[in-house]
Amino acid sequence: MKKLVVLTHPDIESSKVNKRWLQEAQNLTSEFTIHQLHKVYGAGESLDVKLEQEQLLEHQAVILQFPLYWFGTPPLLKKWLDEVLLPGFAYGRKKEDRQLTGKRFGFAISAGIKNEDYRREGRYHYTLEELLLPLAATISYIDAQYVAPFVLYGAEYDPTNPEIDDISQEIDDSANAYVEYLRKI
Ligand SMILES: Cc1cc2nc3c(=O)[nH]c(=O)nc-3n(C[C@H](O)[C@H](O)[C@H](O)COP(=O)(O)O)c2cc1C
Repeated sequence: MKKLVVLTHPDIESSKVNKRWLQEAQNLTSEFTIHQLHKVYGAGESLDVKLEQEQLLEHQAVILQFPLYWFGTPPLLKKWLDEVLLPGFAYGRKKEDRQLTGKRFGFAISAGIKNEDYRREGRYHYTLEELLLPLAATISYIDAQYVAPFVLYGAEYDPTNPEIDDISQEIDDSANAYVEYLRKI
């Protein structure tokens, strides 16, 4: 059984980090299905909930990949969580209402802000683990297994000034670690 990578990026063509990670995953299509929400659904389009649910059931593990936006998920991923994790499928009283029980959920996240700023004593006072608690609680609510995220911090760069904040080395370094993370889940 393959693993499912659900990638949410509103502009993957201009992306550096998620685009590179996507290329890595695309080399491993025997192991991973890559589902790009923004490629499948146009702006404002309804999700095919049945298809999304079936895909979840057909894969042994799920990796939600996204750039951190306002300390959370991009809106389309939030919509996906809202509309796909329905009662009677993801939660409910009866066992058959909880079809994702035990499924492993990992997270591959790019964050513009540097690691040292995601500390209690850092600039923004909260760790990423704390900021991701709603996702961890969601996974717990549906009786699935939360796998600690894979994160590339400091993924902010200035496309108009490539010499400043050139993070191409960090992205290169993250590529192997990303694949290792996907394989371990
Ligand atoms: C609308 C928006 C909100 C963002 N909010 C955050 C944030 O809360 N924390 C953070 O670390 N980076 C934030 N960023 C920076 C992105 O996470 C960063 O640009 C992205 O991870 C880079 O990945 P990419 O090269 O795949 O686009 C934000 C970017 C945008 C466009």
